[in-house]
Amino acid sequence: MAKRALVTGITGQDGSYLAGFLLGKGYEVHGLIRKASTFNTYRIEHLFADPHEPGARMFLHYGDLSDGSQLSHLLYEVEPDEVYHLGAQSHVRVSFDMPEYTADVTGLGTARILEAIRRSGIKAKFYQAASSEMFGNTPPPQNEDSPFRPRSPYAAAKVYAYWMTSNYREAYDLFACNGILFNHESPRRGETFVTRKVTRAIAHIIAGNQRLLFLGNLEAKRDWGFAPEYVEAMWLMLQQDEPRDYVIGTGECHSVREFVEEAFNYVGLDWDQYLRTDPRYFRPTEVDLLVADATRARRELGWDPRVTFKQLVRIMVDADMEALGLTPVGEGKAILRKNGLDDPFQLSIALEPLRGEP
Ligand code: NAP
Ligand code: GDD
Repeated sequence: MAKRALVTGITGQDGSYLAGFLLGKGYEVHGLIRKASTFNTYRIEHLFADPHEPGARMFLHYGDLSDGSQLSHLLYEVEPDEVYHLGAQSHVRVSFDMPEYTADVTGLGTARILEAIRRSGIKAKFYQAASSEMFGNTPPPQNEDSPFRPRSPYAAAKVYAYWMTSNYREAYDLFACNGILFNHESPRRGETFVTRKVTRAIAHIIAGNQRLLFLGNLEAKRDWGFAPEYVEAMWLMLQQDEPRDYVIGTGECHSVREFVEEAFNYVGLDWDQYLRTDPRYFRPTEVDLLVADATRARRELGWDPRVTFKQLVRIMVDADMEALGLTPVGEGKAILRKNGLDDPFQLSIALEPLRGEP
């Protein structure tokens, strides 16, 4: 019997890679999607097969993390072996504008799913998409024992969700893991996160559609990895004998400025001519420095990232150039092939929406 997974946030960056990864492993994949007035499924278009066709293994269900009764109903209907809870209002800057909504969806959303699992009595393993943002201004390197000092409504909501996950593990013997993932990026990264904003702007500048790039704080440092490698870590956590929490990251960190320099240099443009700062993109409180100590994941999961910072930049710039019909510089695809990451993860962004109802 194929294992059955339920993925919240399946239309997001990580959800789309995870769905592809699980289908590749023979799983039946069920995803929670939001009703929107436009198609929001472009990242999973290439995975979709009409559910009426024999052999279809991906099924989409309407719902929302603010709707507990529907989540509960979904649990009974799908009876998953594994639940990957990735859905969230995931933008840190936006969480300052929408603190209550972020608490509801990103924080309480986790409690709703945990409670739905508990009440259903279904023996599903649970993955919580926790975040390095929870460490806030705790000095690096950060590992599973580092204290949380959240610096945004988003981080505070994730800390609540983290402790709820731990509590359900202890109180109800649920196989539940917090994956404390550091920033991970890809050509499918949301367009308003800083890396994608930069690589997309470069493509638009070259295409003649954009003159300047406006950013906020250039001095913040992040531990940036490649998203497809991170979804494998999520799966590995749920395959262990005992549930534990794991930090996932590269251990290398770079500033936003360094990312900008690397990306513009790659295409031979002088970044100084195009970059401007705009106070709108600064945050009321900032997280200055995140660097992962992923020793536990290396030792217990055998997880080790391969794609380096420079390679990540090249993959993303090339993909954004290709998406606009420009000729990419050309190293991105070669890097993916060399790391065996090109095929199963299907990196190109499908632009056609899903046809018909899910
Ligand atoms: P993302 O691209 O922003 O995807 C978020 C997903 O959540 C989307 O599928 C979105 O649906 C869905 N969602 C948002 N609000 C919802 C609601 N009210 N009900 C149901 N679904 C809702 O995020 P990501 O980068 O893939 O990250 C996945 C998870 O990991 C998130 O929980 C994020 O906070 C966490 N995380 C990410 C990183 C990172 O660097 N990427 C690091 C640590 C932790 P729509 O497509 O309809 O908007
Ligand atoms: N988004 C954005 N836009 N960030 C900017 C900009 C800008 O114009 N200019 C500078 N930055 C800085 C931010 O202030 C932050 O220090 C850094 O770039 C990274 O910002 P984001 O790419 O928005 O990511 P994040 O680190 O705040 O949050 C991401 O990573 C978390 C894990 O640490 C998100 O994916 C979260 O969901 C995730 O939990």
